[in-house]
Amino acid sequence: MLFMCHQKAMKKEAEDKLKAVEKLRAEELRRARAASEIPVIWILGGPGCGKGTQCAKIVEKYGFTHLSSGDLLRNEVASGSDKGRKLQEIMSTGGLVSNDEVLSLLNDAIVRAKGSSKGFLIDGYPREKNQGVEFEARVAPADLALYFDCSEDTMVQRILARAAASSVKREDDNEKTIRARLQTFRQNTNAILELYEAKTLTINAERDVDDIFLEVVQAIDCVLKKKQQKAAAQC
Ligand code: AP5
Ligand code: MG
Repeated sequence: MLFMCHQKAMKKEAEDKLKAVEKLRAEELRRARAASEIPVIWILGGPGCGKGTQCAKIVEKYGFTHLSSGDLLRNEVASGSDKGRKLQEIMSTGGLVSNDEVLSLLNDAIVRAKGSSKGFLIDGYPREKNQGVEFEARVAPADLALYFDCSEDTMVQRILARAAASSVKREDDNEKTIRARLQTFRQNTNAILELYEAKTLTINAERDVDDIFLEVVQAIDCVLKKKQQKAAAQC
C-alpha cells in the first residue's frame, strides 16, 4: 500500500515536471514568434537631418522603442567611465566609434526591451555598410530603412539652431565637428543605400516636420500590414 502511494506520488511529480517544461516551451515559442513579428526599422540620414525628431513622433504614434546609437554612446560618456572617455575622443572628431562598441550597446538595449516592445527604431545605424551586415547577422533582420535626405546647408543650419536654443549643448555641435560629421556621412552613405536599396525608402527631409511624418506613417503602416499578413498565414 505504501509502495503504491509512493509510486503515485512519483508519477504525479513527473507529470507536473513535464507540464512545467511544456509551459516553458510554449512561452519561449510565443516570445520567439512575437520577436519576429516586431518591426525593426533603421533610421538613416546625415547629422541634423531630423532622425531624432521623426523618431519622437513615431514613438508617440506607434509606441515603438527608440534606440539612438548616438544617445547610447553619450550615456556611456556621461557615466564617466574610461570607455566613455575614449568614445568621447572619437565622437568629438566626428568619426565613427568601433562597431563592436555600438552593436553591443544596441544589442543589450534590444534584449532588455524585447519582451515588451512593439517595435524597434534603430536611429543612426548603420553608418557604414558592414554595420548593417553585422546587425542583421547578430541581432535581427531590418524590415525597413528610412533615409532622410537633406542638403548639407540645411543640416548645418538645423544643428546650429539646435545648439543655440539648447541649454545643454552637445560636445559635437560646433562648426568644426559638424563639418567632420558631414564628411564621415558623405564617405559611407552611398554604399549603405546601394546595399539596402530594396528595403530603403528615401524621404525628402527638407520639408515641414509633419509633412515628412505623413510619408513615414505610410511606410510604417505598410510594414505592419505585411507583418500581420505573414503572421496570419503562419496560423
Ligand atoms: P548622433 O547622435 O546620431 O548624431 P547625428 O547623426 O550627427 O545626428 P543628430 O542627432 O545631430 O541629428 P538628428 O538627425 O537626430 O536631427 P534632430 O532630429 O536632432 O551621433 C553622434 C556621434 O556618435 C557620431 O558622429 C559618431 O561619432 C557616433 N555614432 C553614432 N552612431 C554611430 C554608429 N552607428 N557607429 C559609429 N559611431 C556612431 O534635428 C536637428 C534639429 O533640427 C533639431 O533642432 C530639430 O528640431 C530640427 N528639425 C528636425 N526636423 C526638422 C524639419 N523638418 N524642419 C525644420 N527643423 C527640423
Ligand atoms: Mg539624433
